[in-house]
Amino acid sequence: MNQIAPRGKTDGLYDRVRHLVPEMEWETFVEDIRAIETLKRERNAVILAHNYQTPEIFHCVSDIRGDSLALAREAQNTDADVIVMAGVHFMAETAKMLNPRSTVLIPDLKAGCSLADSITGADVRLLRQRYPGVPVVTYVNTSAEVKAESDICCTSGNAKRVVESLGTDRVIMIPDEYLARNIEAETGIKMITWAGHCEVHERFTPGEIERMRADHPGLVVLAHPECPPEVVAVSDFSGSTAMMDDYVRDHKGGRILLVTECSMSDNLAVRYPQTQFIRPCNMCPHMKRITLANIRQSLENMTHEVTLDPAMASRARRAVERMLAI
Ligand code: 13P
Ligand code: SF4
Repeated sequence: MNQIAPRGKTDGLYDRVRHLVPEMEWETFVEDIRAIETLKRERNAVILAHNYQTPEIFHCVSDIRGDSLALAREAQNTDADVIVMAGVHFMAETAKMLNPRSTVLIPDLKAGCSLADSITGADVRLLRQRYPGVPVVTYVNTSAEVKAESDICCTSGNAKRVVESLGTDRVIMIPDEYLARNIEAETGIKMITWAGHCEVHERFTPGEIERMRADHPGLVVLAHPECPPEVVAVSDFSGSTAMMDDYVRDHKGGRILLVTECSMSDNLAVRYPQTQFIRPCNMCPHMKRITLANIRQSLENMTHEVTLDPAMASRARRAVERMLAI
């Protein structure tokens, strides 16, 4: 069935990533890239790639790229029959929730998230009993089961707006303790939090950033809000991965440290060659489970399909759609 696309299809793609991918390595990618292009056409499939995907996925086979918020919006709007999530499991669940008609595939079922693993639906029910009447704002980095117990979801790109939209002086914001504390500092709204952390962002320290500033005069530091508050406090700007992208686009040139996952700087370096990216970073082992080889297998074998219990999906969808309406 799979007639591989002609070689000419990949010409020019290497130019996008040649500064990041050695020629020898590229040779090992070409066949998978050509096969993926063919399979996408045959299946009427789109590949959604999070900003933390490696450059050969992000720049060479994905159709839609962005932060968690953008991927959710695009999943809702696509008319593709198949959505391949080059991201982690909660993103694939969110895509399925918002687009039940499409078949949603994740190339590796073990692509999880330390935040999503930190909390269950039963935990949310207990929090509600303990703090009756306080609205529950749930970060999208959670399972559908947890979203189903929530009033509204948020991403790092809209957390401040979502929290302020509720008009209360207290919210339960779960499961990322640091995101909640960072939003508390921005809004003055009291947060009841959960002890969940991103295993990538929790490792950054203020000392590391201060050392970088000493070594690289003029450095501008952009930190993801999943970082501890003391890291955000010594940074120049904090925002989602898409907000970091916008910042770099709007402040062309200079030296920038992105306090986030490693592929973020690689991917922005392709788009903004005039900016010098200083590269200490932490790797997300879950995002890195997605490869060109397993994306190809995913499309060949239609694996692994993400399905949701319809009743739970409908409750979870309400919390996500309420967020998207803001
Ligand atoms: P955003 O891309 O929404 O900022 O999220 C970062 C993240 O950690 C996703 O897992
Ligand atoms: Fe989860 Fe952190 Fe990895 Fe994002 S970077 S998927 S929050 S562990």
